Amino acid sequence: MQYNESEFFIETEVPHDEVITSRTDLDGNITYANDLFCEISGYSLDELLGKPHSIVRHPDMPKSVYKDLWETIKSGNQWIGIVKNLRKDRGHYWVKAIVSGVYKDGKLVEYKSLRSPIEYHDKLEYQKLYDKIRKDNGEKTRKVIYE
Ligand SMILES: Cc1cc2nc3c(=O)[nH]c(=O)nc-3n(C[C@H](O)[C@H](O)[C@H](O)COP(=O)(O)O)c2cc1C
Repeated sequence: MQYNESEFFIETEVPHDEVITSRTDLDGNITYANDLFCEISGYSLDELLGKPHSIVRHPDMPKSVYKDLWETIKSGNQWIGIVKNLRKDRGHYWVKAIVSGVYKDGKLVEYKSLRSPIEYHDKLEYQKLYDKIRKDNGEKTRKVIYE
């Protein structure tokens, strides 16, 4: 898909007093998203249900971050990380995400994620870090200048 680069710079602020939540099946397809997830991502619930969670994957996110996420949750552990997500309108939003398993009668049935806002200086730090990781790993890079 062709993107207009300037659209990537429009940031949506995540509120401090509410949590963005979603759940997926064991393959990462969305089974639930709360109203705030829909509002912040710009998708309706209908557009999200059944879709791979990578529907909100931002091209600035290094592959290794999600490799680590999946290795961590598949081994039964909780993953905490900083994520830049892509909105439907190609804007973005930054969150701290906590991803873990949902268990029923001791059996892993789904995964869930809770997301909260991060501070401006963390966004700068992680943008630079992720730019570096993508560059070091030979992934597509894009220069983003924050002032
Ligand atoms: C519960 C859960 C929540 C997730 N949340 C996100 C998310 O907010 N953004 C995202 O890009 N990937 C999220 N992922 C990871 C995606 O499944 C996917 O691995 C990632 O977008 C990278 O896409 P790819 O695996 O197709 O390369 C989540 C996965 C799970 C299990």
